[in-house]
Amino acid sequence: MPPAFDTQGIGRLLSQTRASHHVLRHRAHAAYGLGVDGNIVADNDTNTFPLLGLLPPQYPEWLGDRSFHESHGVRFAYVGGEMARGIASVELVCALAHVGTLGFFGAAGLSLAVLEKNLVRLRDTLDPKELPWGANLIHTVGAPDLEERTVDLYLQYGVRRMSASAFMALSPAVVRYACQGLRRASDGRIERTHHVFAKISRPEVARHFLQPPPIALLEALKAGGKITADEATLAAQLPIAEDITVEADSGGHTDNRPLSALFPTIAALRDAMVAKYSYPRPIRVGAAGGIGTPEAVAAAFALGAAYVLVGSVHQCAVESGLSADGKSMLAEAGIADVAMTAAADMFEAGVKVQVLKRGTLMAARGNKLYQFYRRYESLEAIPDNERAQLERDLFRAPLTDIWRQTEAFFSEHEPEQLVRATRDPKHRMALVFRWYLGLSSRWPLQGDATRRTDYQIWCGPAMGAFNTWVRESFLAPLSNRSVHQMALNLLEGAAAITRAHQLRSLGVPVPASAFVYRPTPLAL
Ligand SMILES: Cc1cc2nc3c(=O)[nH]c(=O)nc-3n(C[C@H](O)[C@H](O)[C@H](O)COP(=O)(O)O)c2cc1C
Repeated sequence: MPPAFDTQGIGRLLSQTRASHHVLRHRAHAAYGLGVDGNIVADNDTNTFPLLGLLPPQYPEWLGDRSFHESHGVRFAYVGGEMARGIASVELVCALAHVGTLGFFGAAGLSLAVLEKNLVRLRDTLDPKELPWGANLIHTVGAPDLEERTVDLYLQYGVRRMSASAFMALSPAVVRYACQGLRRASDGRIERTHHVFAKISRPEVARHFLQPPPIALLEALKAGGKITADEATLAAQLPIAEDITVEADSGGHTDNRPLSALFPTIAALRDAMVAKYSYPRPIRVGAAGGIGTPEAVAAAFALGAAYVLVGSVHQCAVESGLSADGKSMLAEAGIADVAMTAAADMFEAGVKVQVLKRGTLMAARGNKLYQFYRRYESLEAIPDNERAQLERDLFRAPLTDIWRQTEAFFSEHEPEQLVRATRDPKHRMALVFRWYLGLSSRWPLQGDATRRTDYQIWCGPAMGAFNTWVRESFLAPLSNRSVHQMALNLLEGAAAITRAHQLRSLGVPVPASAFVYRPTPLAL
């Protein structure tokens, strides 16, 4: 195939993503061009082109930090983020493992009994094949026992990777998990049995995970027989987490920061902490939030991400635990069809989550509940007309009935909340409002179409970007959105775009079309 010096021809040659690309100079026109075949010769013949550079084939396997592949036994530096209540299901995590990536099971919001059943399935399916997987530990304010018992299960079922999220500071449970199984290998290196992935969106939180655990905490764990003296000694030489996931504007809990601002900030902090503690090996920083297209994957790797983590768009994968009804709503989303609304957890503190806005009124209704909570001191203080509207539109029952249901729930799960509600009518109001915020995230899981207008589907702008990318392609129908095809296409596209960028940076006139990758059915 002849070399090309015009943008169109260069675009054609670039579509051969697995080729070695030769950067050439045209003798007569002093232009830069591209060749894919041919021989490298030593003569200075006018029929030859001076060779300026040679790029070996670009594979998606090479994207990201090599040590990530080695530490976690994956083919691709690609992670499926945990999605609560088993939306990141056993099927999703298994499919991700089989394609050579790493998935985290969405443990938050599940009872310990349900979590245990899922851990057994994951272990029995993936461990015999030595495929990697992980599960999530979400910080539960005011319920440290739940964290402890979740970690007990993770240790019992040999969960080797745990994504820790929503932490503001370290808890004994997360430190215990990180420390158990630390050992010194015969070559002197410290080896881990358990890997913590810290999901963070603020430097002050990242700092906790980038440091060795506080000595007092290690001593307490040692004194309580939770870790050995050797584990405590080794733990003092390592950070809690060697994989830090920087989460930018994402579905669910988010600070809405752009990745391009947040990532370098955390990477700089990582560098400072590695220098301060002279760690024996590097700490990897991965990127999450807003990643739903090959361009976004390539951009994250260009920022220096060791790995990418995808959430929202996996929610519409065939294997996700969301109902078909919920997935069909996600498939309609555009880039601006998301909004922040009140979160069920930490509702009183004004914490928000990012949700799908299109086709549901939940975002507006959740915000209204939070406004009422701020404005009124009790359910009784809500004016009659407002109360009637809430009962008709949101609760579909008198608030007295909802309170009875709320009471029944909390007396089983967190009776101390009821004690407080008896003393504090504002707290009672918060618990009733949390009835709606809690159930509205269950309705889309069950596919309860009578509650479609109240579906709370966590979703970030990545979903709209993904929908635009796959429009009129084989990935447009939901039935084709296997996580296998989604992940491979995102990665293959990122590799192609990375190559286009490399050549453009070397002075080759690369056409804009080389930065577009259309979804194609791919096989491993
Ligand atoms: C439906 C849904 C549920 C999620 N649940 C959790 C969770 O329980 N714990 C957590 O740490 N992150 C959770 N996340 C965040 C994802 O793991 C991931 O970090 C995030 O979605 C990445 O950003 P993106 O949505 O822009 O892809 C959830 C995200 C979604 C969309």
